[in-house]
Amino acid sequence: MKRISDRVTWVGKIDWELRHFHGDEYETHEGSSYNSYLIRDEKVALVDTVWKPFDKEWLEKLKAEIDLGEIDYIISLHGEVDHSGAFKELMREIPDTPIYITANGVISSKGQYHQDWNFVPVKTGDKLSLGETELTFIEARMLHWPDTMFAFLSGENALFSSDGFGQHLASEALYADLVDQCSLWKEALKYYANILTPFSVMVKNKINEILAMELPIEKLYTSHGLLWRENIGEIIGKYLEWADDYQEDRIAIVYDTMWESTRKMADAIAEGIREASPETEVSIISTSKTDKSDVIAEVFRSKAILLGSPTVNNGILYSTSGILEMIKGLKLKKKKAAAFGSYGWSGEAVKIMTEKLREAGLDAVNDGVRVQWTPDEGMTQELRKFGKDFANSVK
Ligand code: FEO
Repeated sequence: MKRISDRVTWVGKIDWELRHFHGDEYETHEGSSYNSYLIRDEKVALVDTVWKPFDKEWLEKLKAEIDLGEIDYIISLHGEVDHSGAFKELMREIPDTPIYITANGVISSKGQYHQDWNFVPVKTGDKLSLGETELTFIEARMLHWPDTMFAFLSGENALFSSDGFGQHLASEALYADLVDQCSLWKEALKYYANILTPFSVMVKNKINEILAMELPIEKLYTSHGLLWRENIGEIIGKYLEWADDYQEDRIAIVYDTMWESTRKMADAIAEGIREASPETEVSIISTSKTDKSDVIAEVFRSKAILLGSPTVNNGILYSTSGILEMIKGLKLKKKKAAAFGSYGWSGEAVKIMTEKLREAGLDAVNDGVRVQWTPDEGMTQELRKFGKDFANSVK
């Protein structure tokens, strides 16, 4: 339990051991936290709970902090189980306490817990007085679930921002300004890339809607990782940048290989890119040896992607196919692409990948390049030229 102010106490759980999130979809190399908050005014409100594996442990700690009977209101910002997972344990003790939640939150909560708790549906602009302070609810559909909402606490001037502005980063420091900035921003970007990219239009609109409300927001109390209390314009500005078809001067060469031929192609193409555009950062990433959520973060940052796979069974390699499916789900715009791959006999992979890249909304600038068997010196020169031409076409 960490005292944030006279009114607000962090009552969440830091999960130092977490390495996989959303099943195995997202690797959390630096753990995470499930941030829950207690607001004490004339009335007492609890914002969110924690992930189910910690429900009993969390409840015991909460009881040490407050007599549960003193909690007047529960605020459920988002129904996903990493935040609502302790509801069953909590509501067993205080079954009649009202839960302030969006209408969609009622649906997701009932769907997951099959309980008819005392839900109070709220919508944007609804307020809940706690005494001297007041909560203003702001629906935030698709940031990142249809049930998500934010809540602004007057007096504290803090926006409880649910999954928005979060990071999967375990730390005792509590505040973003106290941790290693490299890790913080790397994890914040990875979080945006993997969780929020498909909803970028909504992110932009919601931020602009909240800014237009002219709430005196000074702090962002996130649901994962560190809280933002200083210079919150920086993370809000980054979100607006990330939501605006973000790209850096980077090219990601994302590939898998069977007998090293496609890998050698990747290396030769990279050399060509460097020759044509030395200022462009090139990353060469094996899809089978790199965590997929890290691959997605790199794809998100890049202005262009080269996807490589040899042909196998008239198709493409499993890990490359999975990354393509993830890229499609991101609904990326304004990113250029091309495919490459080696083959022994039939050689369909490049055509398949080019079609799938286009289906995923990427701008495939050519029909790709193939090498039969393994590249010799002449072919290596051609691959360098392919890389050079590609770099020039995405400048
Ligand atoms: Fe952190 Fe969407 O739950």
